[in-house]
Amino acid sequence: MESRIERDLIAAFRQSFEREPRLFRAPGRLNLIGEHTDYNDGFVMPAALDLSIWAAIAPRPDRRLRIRSLIMDEVVEFDLDDTAAQPRGDWSDYIRGVALFLQKAGYRLSGVDLVLDGNLPIGAGLSASAAFEVSAGFALLTISGAEVDRVELAKICQRAENQFVGVRCGIMDQYISCCAVAGSALLLDCRSLTSRKVVIDPKARLVLCDTMVRHQLASDEYNLRREDCERAVAALSTRIAGISALRDVTFPQLMRHGDAMPERVFRRARHVVGEIDRTLRAAAAFDAGDLKECGRLMNLSHESLRDDYEVSCAELDLMVDIAHRLPGVYGARMMGGGFGGCTINLVEAKHTDAFVRAMAERYRTATGVTPQILTCVAGPGAGPAGL
Ligand code: GLA
Repeated sequence: MESRIERDLIAAFRQSFEREPRLFRAPGRLNLIGEHTDYNDGFVMPAALDLSIWAAIAPRPDRRLRIRSLIMDEVVEFDLDDTAAQPRGDWSDYIRGVALFLQKAGYRLSGVDLVLDGNLPIGAGLSASAAFEVSAGFALLTISGAEVDRVELAKICQRAENQFVGVRCGIMDQYISCCAVAGSALLLDCRSLTSRKVVIDPKARLVLCDTMVRHQLASDEYNLRREDCERAVAALSTRIAGISALRDVTFPQLMRHGDAMPERVFRRARHVVGEIDRTLRAAAAFDAGDLKECGRLMNLSHESLRDDYEVSCAELDLMVDIAHRLPGVYGARMMGGGFGGCTINLVEAKHTDAFVRAMAERYRTATGVTPQILTCVAGPGAGPAGL
C-alpha cells in the first residue's frame, strides 16, 4: 500500500520528469544509549524510526544526476563524470557525495533523475542526513543494476559525509538506516560492524521529545569532540601498549593515567569509556527485562554528556528535568550529536499519554515553544518502497 507521501512523490516525479519512477525509502534513527561512542570503536544501541526519506528515481540515457528536493523546493544538476566536484555547502552535497564515493568504490552508476521527499524532521537530531544518503545510495545502486550490500552501503555513505560534506560522523546513523530490524533495537559493535537484536519490553514505550532547538555550530563542535578523543588516545598510547581507540581503554586504566592529558580531554575520555560500559550493561538489562536499570543507565548517560562531554544545552536539560518529575519515567537523556534536537525517554506504557501531555504543557510554559513529541515504533531498514 502506498502512503500519501509516496503518492505525492510519484505525482511530483511524473510532473517533473514525465515518466514512471521506482521508489526507495531509508529511515531516520533513535538511539537508546551509546552516544559519541561510535567513532571511538565502541557500542551503540540504535533503532530505525518509522519516519523516512523517500527517493523516486528513473534512469537517464546520459551521465547527468538531476535531483529535485521537495523539502528544499530546489533542483540541482551534476555530471557523474565530474570527479573533481566541490561541495556546495547545502543538502545536495549528501547526494552528490554518495554518488561520488559509490563510483570511487568501483560501482558504475547510470545517470538518473531523482526526487526526494520525507516526513522526517530535518535538523532534529534524527539523522535525516543519513536517511538522505542511504535512500539515494540504495536507489542509485539498484537503478544501476548493482547488488546492495547494506553494510558496504553504510560505510560508503559515512565516507561521503566525512570526506565530502565534512562532518566526521561515526557509522551509527548510516548503519541503522541500512540494517535496522523492525520491532527491535540493535546492539552494534562499531569496530567489527556486527550487531545483535535488543528487544524492548512491551511494558515500556520510547518517546522522543524535540526541543525544537537547531544549532548551526553542532558540526564544528562535533569535530572538536572527535579531536579530543584522538588526543586522549595519543596520550594514553604513551602509557598503555596496543590501544588504537578509547574502546581499548578500561575505566581503571583511564583513572590511573588521567594525568597524561589535559583536564578537558580527560573528561571527554571519561564520558566515552563510561558510556561504552553503560551501553553493554544496558543491553544486558534490556535482555533481563530490567527496565529500571535501563532507565538508570540512560540518566547517567545524560549527566555524562552534559557535564563531561559538554554537548547538551539548556533546553535538553530542561526536558530531562521535566521527565524526571513525571510518573512512569524509567529514564531520560539527550539523544544524538547534541546542542539541540531531541531527548529520548523510556516510559511505562500506561503512563505514556499522560507523559506526552504533561511534557508538552510544561515545556511550553517554561520556554514559550511547543515541542514535537513522538511515540516510536522501531521500523525496518532501507529498501524499495511503494510496492
Ligand atoms: C551523530 C553522528 C553519529 C554519532 C552521534 C552521537 O548522530 O552522526 O555518528 O556520533 O552523533 O552519538
